[in-house]
Order: sequence, then C-alpha cells, then structure tokens
Amino acid sequence: MWLTCSSIGRKLVMAVTGACLVLFVTFHVLMNAVALAWPTAYNQVCEFLGANWYALVASVGLAALFIVHIIYAVWLTIQNRKARGTDRYAVTSRPPQVEWSSKNMLVLGIVILAFLVVHLIQFWAKMQWQELRHAELAVLPQLSGAPVPPAMGTLFLQMAFSQPWTAIVYIVGFIALWFHMNHGFWSMFHTAGWDNGIWIERLKKIGCWWTTVVVALFIAQAIVFTVLSHEKYYEKDIALQEQYAAYWDEHAEKANTEFRSEMVNIQTQFNDMQNQAYEKQQQGTFTQDDAAAMEAKQQELDRQGLEAMKKYVAAAEPMIKYAKQQAPDMHPMNLIETEHMVESCKNQIKAVENQLNGTPQMMAR
Ligand code: HEM
Repeated sequence: MWLTCSSIGRKLVMAVTGACLVLFVTFHVLMNAVALAWPTAYNQVCEFLGANWYALVASVGLAALFIVHIIYAVWLTIQNRKARGTDRYAVTSRPPQVEWSSKNMLVLGIVILAFLVVHLIQFWAKMQWQELRHAELAVLPQLSGAPVPPAMGTLFLQMAFSQPWTAIVYIVGFIALWFHMNHGFWSMFHTAGWDNGIWIERLKKIGCWWTTVVVALFIAQAIVFTVLSHEKYYEKDIALQEQYAAYWDEHAEKANTEFRSEMVNIQTQFNDMQNQAYEKQQQGTFTQDDAAAMEAKQQELDRQGLEAMKKYVAAAEPMIKYAKQQAPDMHPMNLIETEHMVESCKNQIKAVENQLNGTPQMMAR
C-alpha cells in the first residue's frame, strides 16, 4: 500500500497523525485551563467525559494515533539513517533551531513518551481505567483515608502535584513537547509540499506561536497546580468540598432508598401474615399449627430484617466516614439522616440478635 510502501506515504501518515495529536494536545490544555479558572466545573467535565461511550471512542482513537505515530517515527528514522549512512547530519538550509529539533525528533519523542507513561499512571489509570473496570470503592486510589472516585478530578490534581517530582517531570516533558511540536509543524507543511514562498514562513510562525502558547499554558498549569496542591487547596476549598460531599450524599441517598424499600417489603409480609391470622381467629379456624407457622415466619422475617440492616450499615457507614474526611466543613441533609438511620439500625441489630438468640420477638413492626 502507498501509505506504508512509499517514503512520502509514510511521511504523510506522520503528518496527519501528528496534526491530530496537535489538536488533541490543544484541546487538552484548554480542558486543564478549566481546572485553573473554575475547579468545580473541571470536576463536572471529568464526570461528563468519564468512561462514557464517546470518551471511550476518543480514547481508543487517540491511542491508535499515538501508536501509529510512534511506529512510523521509528520506521522513518531507521529508513533515513540507512539511506544517509554516515552522512545523516548533512548541512541544509533550515534554521539552526529547526535543524537541532529535526536531528533529535526521535529522542524528543522518547522523552515525551516517558512523560506520557508517568502521566497516564498518575491520571488515566486512576480515573478512566477504574471506571472502565467498575472498581469497587475499596480499591480506588486513597487520599487522606478516603477513596477518590474518578469524577473528583481536582483530588487527582492534588495527589499528583503534591509530589515534589511531578512538576519537574512535567516541565521536562513540556520542553521536549515544545521542540517536538515546533519541528512537527514545520515538517508537516514541508511534507504537504509547502516548502517555499511566503506562506511557509507564515505557517512556521503560526506553528511556533501555537506551540509556544500551548506549552506555556501547560507550564503555567503545572506551576499553579503544584502551588495549590501544596496549600491543600483542592482539599480545603469550600465549593469543592460541597461537590465531594454531594457525591457521598447521593450515594447515601441511594443506600437509604434501597434499605427503605427492603424494609417496606418485610413489613408488608408481616402485615399479610397478621391479617391472615386475624381472619382465621375471627372464623374460629386458627389452630396450634397456624400459631407455630406464624412464629416460624416471624423469625424468618426477623432474620431478613437483620440481614437488610447489616447490609445497609455496611453500605452507608463508609459514606458518612468518607464525606467527613473529604468534606469536613459540610453537613449535607441525606448524610445527617443516614447517620441517624445507621445509629438506630446498629441498636436494632443488637436488640434483634439478642431476641433471636433468646425469646423470638418481632422486629419488623
Ligand atoms: C499540566 C499538565 C497536564 C494535566 C494536569 C493533565 C491532566 C490529565 C487528566 C486529568 C487526564 C485524565 C482523563 C481521564 O482519564 O479521565 C489526562 C489524560 C491524558 N493526558 Fe493529560 N494532562 C496534562 C498534560 C498532558 C500532555 C502534555 C499530554 C501529551 C503530550 C497529555 C496526554 C494525555 C493523554 C494521552 C491522556 C489520556 C486521554 C484519554 O484516555 O482519552 N497530557 N490528562
């Protein structure tokens, strides 16, 4: 195929994948800018993108772009070195900075790749990947003793940038990205045949400006995120705490609703049983066997209620604990109610267990 067999075809693949990656990097720096200007909106963006189908399609497309770009880069470099032999640093008419980047594109690419590995471990593996594998709360990354769900993007910034080495690794990566992208822009137009005239100069200038603005923004972001995370801003800010608390509040509300519906179900069974017994008593057909069956059913319902309460306490108690840790200044409604319900369930569990071990009595009343 032309795109794989001919040298110009391979360069075109590099140029097209490179252009798409430039667009991705530009989109990415703008998304990060939301975290700078409006951290709560950044969390909403993280939640919206998450592991939804559109975000997954974009991630798979992006991974394919990176892989094709890297494979072709290595392939073209080997091919060029073979073709030029010892003469690979032949002097050309390009400006010196373009010359330096041109000779070092592969090395720059490797530095960016190394940065990317660290970066994906710090963010993607803890966010989208956890959502994809439907990770339980217990296995999510922890911050101050509470799990951090993928939607809390600002807490991932806190975790990553509170490490002193993160800013250094990122800034080295950004500088490599500047040289790589700057030359990539030039090279892209060169491949497309725009190698002379007034336009190539203009395009080179546009490329240089674009790259500089993108990289300068990335550097500014890394610095601001580092300073703020050292001040624990992402843990202390009231608006952010409100968002973290709302997350646990929503989950507590879900646990409360499930628990209530289970208890209503048990209560309904209990009422039905009592009504049947009452009817039989009215008709004078209530026997010893009925009394024994009723007692057995009551014990079974007590056990069901006990299980439901234990399940509820196990689900709801951590929500209260995590909300207190991640949002100590917040007191959301559902969580206050949940705290009371958990306390009352714990007392009831003790009472019912005592009853079941001793004299059987009804719990679901
Ligand atoms: C201050 C700098 C940066 C910050 C704070 C940052 C932040 C993030 C965050 C939070 C994610 C996770 C998204 C998710 O999985 O939900 C992410 C993903 C990613 N980042 Fe960055 N990033 C930065 C710079 C860069 C740079 C310079 C590059 C490329 C050279 C890059 C490439 C990627 C890639 C490829 C992904 C995976 C995207 C996906 O799966 O769709 N990032 N970044």
